[in-house]
Amino acid sequence: MTGMYESSGLLVNHWYAAGQSKQFRKNIPVSVTIFEIPIVLWRQENGILTALLDRCNHRNAPLSKGRILNDCIVCPYHGWTYDPSGQCVEIPSEGPHAERIPNKKVESFPVKEAYDLVWIWMGRDKMPDNEPFEMPIMKEHGWHYYYMETRFENNVTDLVENFMDVPHTVFVTDSVLVSYDQPNDSIGLSGWLVNPKNLPMKHTDNFYMPNNTRVDYIFGENERGFIITSTCTPVRPFETIVYTLISYKFGWMTPIAKLGLNAYTRKVINQDVWIMDIHGKNIQKFGNTDYRSTQCDYMHLYIESLRNWAESPADKPAPAPIVRDIEFWV
Ligand code: FES
Repeated sequence: MTGMYESSGLLVNHWYAAGQSKQFRKNIPVSVTIFEIPIVLWRQENGILTALLDRCNHRNAPLSKGRILNDCIVCPYHGWTYDPSGQCVEIPSEGPHAERIPNKKVESFPVKEAYDLVWIWMGRDKMPDNEPFEMPIMKEHGWHYYYMETRFENNVTDLVENFMDVPHTVFVTDSVLVSYDQPNDSIGLSGWLVNPKNLPMKHTDNFYMPNNTRVDYIFGENERGFIITSTCTPVRPFETIVYTLISYKFGWMTPIAKLGLNAYTRKVINQDVWIMDIHGKNIQKFGNTDYRSTQCDYMHLYIESLRNWAESPADKPAPAPIVRDIEFWV
């Protein structure tokens, strides 16, 4: 049987976010699913994280339902115990006979912590050859940030398209840049809060292969700003967890923004959850190939073509870059 992992081609050869660092506490197993692969993570006493396939070698029980003892994970069924490398180190029924322990390890996955997230390398047949996507946690004075975690019932391709707006577009090979030339562009937040001096705004949308988007609104010469960055983790074909980083710098309005911004951004994302859920359900009924498009869909078509190519690259070259200026109404 071919599962999501096997049919995802080169898309698996990347780091995928498994959660926020603060969610992983010492000695507590956490189960996550990425590309339909169940994985258990735990933080050792020294703070280092371990990720193993969530499957006991003995009879396939989920290790994540077990407990951590001396940095090892103990299977909840018959107590086989695995060290952080996945090596079985104890079988209770065999007493002191360590020589009877099978030497087959439970599969382990490389783990990294960066940008307050935990990332797992999903290229099971390939050593990591790239880095986790750089989430723009602004360290400069005046910037603040927080994460939101949202579960969507849709696939990564449709989600990243949804997170990008409608384009005036420059395309490059493994990413998509959209810059806007709209004198009256606004971001939906109250102008008096974000941009009381009515400074000129620079608005850009970026897509980065295979699963990341970044939308920037910068006011004046970086005097104020609002940046929404999303990294998508595929759970199943129509289930995706999105980690959204909200970075903002609103000057003296920042304390007021802190009071309401979280609720506001949650409300906006919940609208996306709704439309993405009903859209995803209809794609499952009707498929996603018989579409009709206009020039406003160029960006979406290109993102799709990049991800489709990565899914089944065969010997084909990656889709060629395109540059287009288009006119559209919002
Ligand atoms: S299934 Fe894990 S110890 Fe038996």
